[in-house]
Amino acid sequence: MEHFDKKAIDSKVAAGLPFTDRWHNRFHLEMPFGLINDPNGLTYADGEYHIFFQWNPLGCEHKNKCWAHVRTRDFVHYSLPELSLWPSDEHDKDGCYSGCGFAEKGKVRVFYTCNAKNDGVRTPAQRLGTLQEDGSVRKDEIVIPDSPEGITGHFRDPYLFHRHGRRYFVIGAQADGEKPRGTVLIYKEGKDGWQNLGELHTRLGDFGYMWECPNMLHFGSYDALIFCPQGLEAREFDRQNLYQAGYIAGHLSLDSMDMMQHTKFQELDHGFDFYASQVFQHEGRHILLGWMGMPDRDDEYPTREKGWMYSLTMPRVLTLRQGHIFSRPAAELKALRIEDTALDIDSDMEDKLSTRLFDGSEVLMDITLGKAKKVELTLVYGLEKTVFSYDHTTQVMTIDRTGMKNGGRGVRRFKMFVDRVLSLQLFVDRAAVEAFFQHGEEAASFLVFPEKNIRPELRVTADAPLETVTGRVWELDSFRFNP
Ligand code: FRU
Repeated sequence: MEHFDKKAIDSKVAAGLPFTDRWHNRFHLEMPFGLINDPNGLTYADGEYHIFFQWNPLGCEHKNKCWAHVRTRDFVHYSLPELSLWPSDEHDKDGCYSGCGFAEKGKVRVFYTCNAKNDGVRTPAQRLGTLQEDGSVRKDEIVIPDSPEGITGHFRDPYLFHRHGRRYFVIGAQADGEKPRGTVLIYKEGKDGWQNLGELHTRLGDFGYMWECPNMLHFGSYDALIFCPQGLEAREFDRQNLYQAGYIAGHLSLDSMDMMQHTKFQELDHGFDFYASQVFQHEGRHILLGWMGMPDRDDEYPTREKGWMYSLTMPRVLTLRQGHIFSRPAAELKALRIEDTALDIDSDMEDKLSTRLFDGSEVLMDITLGKAKKVELTLVYGLEKTVFSYDHTTQVMTIDRTGMKNGGRGVRRFKMFVDRVLSLQLFVDRAAVEAFFQHGEEAASFLVFPEKNIRPELRVTADAPLETVTGRVWELDSFRFNP
């Protein structure tokens, strides 16, 4: 087990801020060194949001999994990120894996998976912890010492939720068998601890070999189970990443352990770099943060050579409408807006519109298609480009990153219905791009690593004159980190 010196690591983080590498983002959570992944322990307590996330402070490999911690009141000003939880005993010596957080008696508590591997055998224990004054997590009792009968060592990422005044948690799992199968289990809190209610039944059938990072959410009278299945085949218009992050919405019956009348599995995001998201539930809002990265795809991220990897998404607010989750950037992010320019072009515009973006930008745009059947929005970085193209006839949006030199490339396609107006809200950070379409009906997040240090140009082109293009472009400020 490595030695983790919180003091030394924290001062190294403080010295690494503000960031100097030009691929470092301005309004996305990142670390100056090491590898980050899943958001963890999202908790609102005493006026502050606590965000933890997976972090290897010692290198850019998927090992030494610790939890980092930041606090924020407004998603714009943050405390300095610090080391909060790290491997220290025989239970979590091979990693403090993902888990959730909750507020209890004025304290922030966490609930995480301890990973221990001995002679190739994993013993996953689920343990509680309590955030201390100094920013570290005190490790408390282990509530589940190992995976239950019928479940392999892949048993992790507990997420607490409430129903009928009781506490439950849902946890990612792999059912043992000739062909291992992804699933989730639910546990219920009782007087003598946590009772395993077993697998939650769904109608998904054969749906991958492992489900990671589940969240159980409640929207009015509907429930949504978010999870990350591994082992699904790519299809023409979805499941195109190596692993997925998505959900089914329906009605959770804890009596029959069934997700009743649920929708099909839908992805939360159609970009290249989105996985292992987690949701805060606070004052009726569901606020999601995702990891902008993908397990087993480290080769696609050239920042590895610079000693840091990956980002978290901006916070998004989720709503469920007719079985579909809409996601929109949290309203707090409007505080990042500095100055705006109007984009007002009417009917006889030529077939091309172009605008130079800032170092960090937000673009709001409504495109009334008129006679155009194909419209392209291109982020141009000198000779490199990333293209969003929408085909109105087939109702397919394509994101094409093959025009970039560094990092992951490829194409992603998804179906999206547009009647007359294509609506887009686009956040363009130094490397991170987050797009929200049709007022949050669909989202796409990904990273680009332009070779040249230049501000991108946004070009809109179409196969016939567009009826109108209206919108605004804002220059966005950076997140602020204060002790
Ligand atoms: C998802 C995941 C989780 C695990 C964590 C370890 O990216 O594999 O299942 O807890 O990462 O870092």
